[in-house]
Amino acid sequence: MTLDTLDLNLALLNLCVSIDVTVIHESSDCQKELKVPMTNIIPASVYQRRDGLTAEQFYVQYQHSIDNPDVFWGKQANLLDFSQSWQQVYTGDFSLGSSQWFVGGTLNTCYNCIDRHLPKHGNALALIWQGEQESLVKRYTYRQLHEQICRLANVLTTYGICAGDRVGIYLPMIPEAVIAMLACARLGAVHCVVFAGFSAESLANRFNDISCRLVITAEQSIRAGKTLLLKQQVDIALTQCALVKTVLVVSAGQNSDWVDGRDIDYQQAVDQASTDYPCVMMSAEAPLFILHTSGSTGIPKGVVHRTAGYLLYSALTFKVLFDYQPGDVFWSTADIGWITGHSYSIYGPLANGATVLLFEGLPTYPDASRCWQIIDQHHVAIFYTAPTLLRSLMREGDGYLVNSSRASLRVLGTVGEPINPSVWQWYFEKIGQSRCPIVDTWWQTETGGVLIAPIVGITPLQPGAASQPFWGIAPALMDDQLQVLTGVASGNLVIQQPWPGLMQSIYGDHQRFLTQYMARFPGNYLTGDGAKRDEIGTYWLMGRLDDVVNCSGHRIGTAEVESALIAQGDIAEAAVVGFPHAIKGEGIYAFVTPKSGVLPSMALKQALIRQVASIIGPIAKPDVIQFTENLPKTRSGKIMRRLLKQIAAGSDDFGDTSTLTDPAVLTQLLRQREIED
Ligand code: WTA
Repeated sequence: MTLDTLDLNLALLNLCVSIDVTVIHESSDCQKELKVPMTNIIPASVYQRRDGLTAEQFYVQYQHSIDNPDVFWGKQANLLDFSQSWQQVYTGDFSLGSSQWFVGGTLNTCYNCIDRHLPKHGNALALIWQGEQESLVKRYTYRQLHEQICRLANVLTTYGICAGDRVGIYLPMIPEAVIAMLACARLGAVHCVVFAGFSAESLANRFNDISCRLVITAEQSIRAGKTLLLKQQVDIALTQCALVKTVLVVSAGQNSDWVDGRDIDYQQAVDQASTDYPCVMMSAEAPLFILHTSGSTGIPKGVVHRTAGYLLYSALTFKVLFDYQPGDVFWSTADIGWITGHSYSIYGPLANGATVLLFEGLPTYPDASRCWQIIDQHHVAIFYTAPTLLRSLMREGDGYLVNSSRASLRVLGTVGEPINPSVWQWYFEKIGQSRCPIVDTWWQTETGGVLIAPIVGITPLQPGAASQPFWGIAPALMDDQLQVLTGVASGNLVIQQPWPGLMQSIYGDHQRFLTQYMARFPGNYLTGDGAKRDEIGTYWLMGRLDDVVNCSGHRIGTAEVESALIAQGDIAEAAVVGFPHAIKGEGIYAFVTPKSGVLPSMALKQALIRQVASIIGPIAKPDVIQFTENLPKTRSGKIMRRLLKQIAAGSDDFGDTSTLTDPAVLTQLLRQREIED
């Protein structure tokens, strides 16, 4: 952000003052006209920050962080405790993809997340675990968590794990997942969590990629009343992973099919271990973890995050973006198998001494009131979730809100995909009762923490917009000819300066890191997302660039069309992709799921097309609308657009579909397409 946009943001603050005025004088015709584009902007004053940060301070600090990043990050590093202080904040060459942060410093992540809180804060709650059954609740103070982590670190050492070794983790959302990650960090081992919904095949690929010798898993997991046999998947995977010699198993008492000499009962081992284990101090640049994310080639990339930079960035963003205050209970519904689970269920909050809620189970089970009940029961102050969950809850109707007050909520957040403005409004008005700001956080596995988000109490909220860069983040929009676009524009979203949360490399393939992220726009990190910037400098994310349809030479964000379809009112979910079109180059294909009780019909199709034409323009009218009960989703709830594109193009050669929750959806979609043809 340049000084121009700084001015724009301050101007926007003033604009919001006038919005209040317009809202008051609704009767005047002239003001009614003025009101139309503005009603969707919620003034920043809907929320008073509790940390006292003012808009002016934020923007001045922002400019400082861009102009003098070393001074800025050097000062922010006081958030962490180093055992040996660093000599240099940053060294490297961003354009060559080489960056080192806090050079010469040593520290331990577990010390920063747990030990340093013990003297004053040892009896404060670090973790609340809510099982799927309502009565299943476990609470851990910082001291109790410390004890469990030390015990497990001792067990890991007994089985030969040292600093630098990789440890595979395949666990459900249970306290042992947090303990396992922090125990690895305590002894300097690099954890690699694999989401517990992945198949044995994917597990084997990931374990082999990191060459791990030890795996931590659980016999089972409970979801929607069903038992999932996790260890069984590990057993199958390990037939292909000769290196793994030890499996620590959180037992459910079955202990069936145990492999003698390999499988160890987690609890028994931990109970016998000492509660003392000194933290191993690591170089600031030592890898903290590897987390795989899907790549365009279909081979997952092992994203490597470093110790000090990652921890600092997740801790600072957590504190500022959620306006965290001591005593707040923070709940992120993301699984620990994803980056959100790493940065905002573990590292960011615990580095700040916060209380984290971990929930094992399906947020819609036994019914759509579960999340709101949990919020009341545990007095959750900050709730962070994904638009996909909100859409499915909204679809069930507001009847599920009546048995909860949600009075403890102060800040709401979303992550993972653009949020449709109508869903945003529902979240804001119904869940947060129009008093809780929504932080729409844009970021990626690769970025370590949030890069673009509204600053609550400071940024006016524009539903559907991730809004503005965080301190130290210099976004830019570039066209395919490598030109930086200024003012109102849309293009490739790149980041022009290094920041400490950025991934260090791709495990075992640094060249892939350089090619994929640093080569196409030299000197910039390529996010792979498209974005547009409006008149007031607000960033609107438009989805992955491969999700932008080029229709008759017009670039149309599929997210925009989806929001328009949902805004019609009868649709619960929509996914839009491009497909080859003889005249237009690419046509627009929309898969839509009607709300329960709404019947698919020709009249509804026409209403949807009219809606898109009126919100975006005739150029964005879908060429095909296909009704469907379900969309192909990964277990984390992301719609697999690659598969929809293939269906839209009339292909049934789907390739790897192992990450799909329900592969049968594809057959249904194909059959339906034939009928519609
Ligand atoms: C998308 C998740 C719009 C984006 C933390 C990004 C979003 C990809 C948002 C990364 C948001 C994430 N608005 N799009 N608030 N947040 N995305 O690696 O396309 O699972 O590139 O990280 O999700 O997904 P990942």
